[in-house]
Amino acid sequence: MAIGTRLFRSALLAMAGNRAAEALALKYGLRLGARQFVAGETREEALDKVRDLNRKGIEATLDHLGEGIRRMSEAEAYKQEYVRLLEGIRAAGVRSNVSLKPTQMGLALDPDAAYANIREIVAAADRCGNFVRIDMEDSPHTDATIGIARRLHGKGLTNVGTVIQAYLYRSEDDIRRLTAEPMNLRLVKGAYKEPKSLAYPRKPDVDANFRRLAKARLRSGVYTAIATHDETIIRELRLFARREGIDGSAYEFQMLYGIRSALQEQLAAEGCRVRCYVPYGRMWYPYFVRRLAERPANAAFLIRNWIRG
Ligand code: FDA
Repeated sequence: MAIGTRLFRSALLAMAGNRAAEALALKYGLRLGARQFVAGETREEALDKVRDLNRKGIEATLDHLGEGIRRMSEAEAYKQEYVRLLEGIRAAGVRSNVSLKPTQMGLALDPDAAYANIREIVAAADRCGNFVRIDMEDSPHTDATIGIARRLHGKGLTNVGTVIQAYLYRSEDDIRRLTAEPMNLRLVKGAYKEPKSLAYPRKPDVDANFRRLAKARLRSGVYTAIATHDETIIRELRLFARREGIDGSAYEFQMLYGIRSALQEQLAAEGCRVRCYVPYGRMWYPYFVRRLAERPANAAFLIRNWIRG
């Protein structure tokens, strides 16, 4: 990655956590260009988008946006929204599970209360015959996030899984341990700013680790969500699965709402299981900025459009 691109990416990731920039962005609502990546501000809008995806043979995972809360009362409101969302999914008869962020449930403020909140959501999902994915945030939360998913499994709630980031050196060990349990995992490259002491700084190394970890999971037969828009990797892994005789019901591809939509449709039409991550809600700013940081060309495109008015 060129130095200029790396600096731009770092600056954008720093902006993702900037409260003043967030307040300014929220004032302008989804008009800022976030609508490309965010399904809307309400549950109803998001369920409509899921209906459209389902018609194209694509499943969904709904994410009510929010993270890094400052008071536990916020976590309570998010928890209630997730329970209503799970009931809404059942009532609407759409094919979708849910994804949530542990810091949205209070992980950074009160880990025990965050666990209790997530347990309530997973129990509600269990009653609805549904599944909860605990997203992975930055490295200070990795141990605790994996710990919550394992603790819930230990209580017999196996309709929950978490996420492993290929950029972290520790991920190979985490995968080995969680595959033995066994736990349903989503594999991603990783979206946060991490120090060199913890994460591969070079993209080719992250890509190589992603391939390695994905193949280990496919071989294991434990259900894996391969979450990437990287067409070369997707093609390689499909070929690998075919060669190794791995059944298509043991894995799915996941992509984000608004990114590589044609590829999502094409894979679904070719018989792959595809799930689209559909975020909605008012707290879209950090999510939106991370999407810009992944591909600085997105930011350049938006800036050109704002200037043109
Ligand atoms: P890569 O960055 O190599 O991009 C490959 C190609 O995809 C690009 O050339 C471009 O065509 C396209 N592309 C990628 N990003 C784009 C963007 N923003 N806009 C337009 N095109 C883009 N991370 C995390 O740390 N914790 C998590 O819990 C999750 N959860 C998650 C769920 C799902 C369903 C997905 C798809 C991703 C995540 N991520 C995540 C984000 C992930 O870590 C990673 O940052 C992004 O997926 C981008 O990396 P790619 O693997 O897509 O490849």
